[in-house]
Amino acid sequence: MRSVALAFVLVLASVGASAHQAPLIPATPPALIPSPRSAVFAESGGFVVTSRTPIVVPGGADEAVRVGEVLSALIGPGVGVGHPDSLDVQPLVETGPPRDGAIVLALTDRADVQAPEAYALTVEPAGVRIEAGTAAGLFYGVQTLRQLLPPEVEYSAARIGPLDVPAVVILDAPRYPWRGAMLDVARHFFGVAAIEQYLDHMALYKLNRLHLHLSDDQGWRVEIPGWPRLTTVGAQNEVGGGPGGYLSTADYEHLVRYAADRFITVVPEIDMPGHIHAALVAHPDLSCDGEPREPYTGIRVGFSALCVEQEATYAFLDDVIGALAARTPGAWFHIGGDEVQTLSHEQYATFVQRAEALVAAHGKRLVGWDEIAGVPLQPGATLQLWRPFWDDLTHPDSARRARAHAHADAVVGAVEGGAHLILSPADRIYLDMKVDSTTALGLAWAGYNGVRDAYDWGETPWLDALPDGAIIGIEAPLWTETIATVADLEAMAFPRLVGVAERGWSSRETLDWDDYRVRLARQAPRWHILGLNYTRVPEVWNAD
Ligand code: ACM
Repeated sequence: MRSVALAFVLVLASVGASAHQAPLIPATPPALIPSPRSAVFAESGGFVVTSRTPIVVPGGADEAVRVGEVLSALIGPGVGVGHPDSLDVQPLVETGPPRDGAIVLALTDRADVQAPEAYALTVEPAGVRIEAGTAAGLFYGVQTLRQLLPPEVEYSAARIGPLDVPAVVILDAPRYPWRGAMLDVARHFFGVAAIEQYLDHMALYKLNRLHLHLSDDQGWRVEIPGWPRLTTVGAQNEVGGGPGGYLSTADYEHLVRYAADRFITVVPEIDMPGHIHAALVAHPDLSCDGEPREPYTGIRVGFSALCVEQEATYAFLDDVIGALAARTPGAWFHIGGDEVQTLSHEQYATFVQRAEALVAAHGKRLVGWDEIAGVPLQPGATLQLWRPFWDDLTHPDSARRARAHAHADAVVGAVEGGAHLILSPADRIYLDMKVDSTTALGLAWAGYNGVRDAYDWGETPWLDALPDGAIIGIEAPLWTETIATVADLEAMAFPRLVGVAERGWSSRETLDWDDYRVRLARQAPRWHILGLNYTRVPEVWNAD
């Protein structure tokens, strides 16, 4: 693992006090990630943001004003608060008509920004205008404007003076509706502050789903009313024997709101019927033998299962799914379903169908790991493809080839039955796989996932042959068997998660590794200011 050069931050900080000084890192050439659908930059004639630049939200719709306040909070500290020329205020959010000299955020019925999350952004000397059909589109326009501003805008308490924005016309919309990151808070517990930080970094790159892996053999991580032992007993361990922990109901509700403020939907996962040992430690009667169990702090998988043939199991799941569904405004509930090694196929299939019915009864849509492809499901289920198989469809080894074809056939069968797919191939975008042989953290059972590997994949004949619309998105899981701190989380996620964000958002024609890696290298000054502990790989940072 290579570490970040902290000296750089000090150099930047030292320019802070002087007003009107040209930014140390000019905003041009721009380095936008994800790359927008179209961007036409002018040679000159940009806009200058000062402490007196108003943010105007014509019509004043609440959700659009809230996006204006996000922008005000971003640029306020840099150009306003404490600045010698300033009124010591953040730029004001007004709700009157558009005017010159302003940053205008407008909800509009303009036809070319009506796709979900689409926006248009124009920067010219007279002002900045972001237009969208939805507040989400305005938010993504603001994130693009943020990347057009010099990285110093990220300081929360520095006086950096007016900020230059290059002149540009951008029209943008995402490729996929589901652009996700998964955080395993079960193997090692990560609490509110760590998850907030992850959400903040996701928002900068237009990711819009946070999948929380809330339970596993090593720990149960969310309070369920009526089942106190899940947390007083089941949450008190983690891999390696640390103290564990859990999200209280208030914590979970707070995170759902914090994510929603960033247009990110939380997708809760309770992994079942396997990966459930921690719940069985708390409630041995949920197992078929009823025997007391010791907490498990290792990293084996596949050994635990709920007793799928007793009704008490489904009463338990009804409470758990119901409690989380009631606190989750998003449409989805993830039932896990992976790596069950102690049940017959019939037992597994019956269980998954009953879990599916409970999810539906609580008003949510089912998501599960790709093992559930082997079970007949209601139309509209979502499968998360994690097990590498499409490279093996042409493997010289016939047994491997046969396994891959069986896997592919099950997935295609599910798609024909109305299922959607999220791509999370372990051999490309599992962020817990080591980057290379020098990576101290992480595992390597799916190989090394280099920064290029995590970006440059996905256009394969098998995926291309799927019906239009079958793939709804991409999600990068970060399992935490070897990850115990926020610094470790960030070192594994960054920069690879950024490549996943671009693959999820940018249209296929704009994906290009050589172009991307230059834009990626240019994110580093912003990350230094944000304090993000990214892994500085030579294939990117020796190239700039
Ligand atoms: C998984 O990696 N077991 C989904």
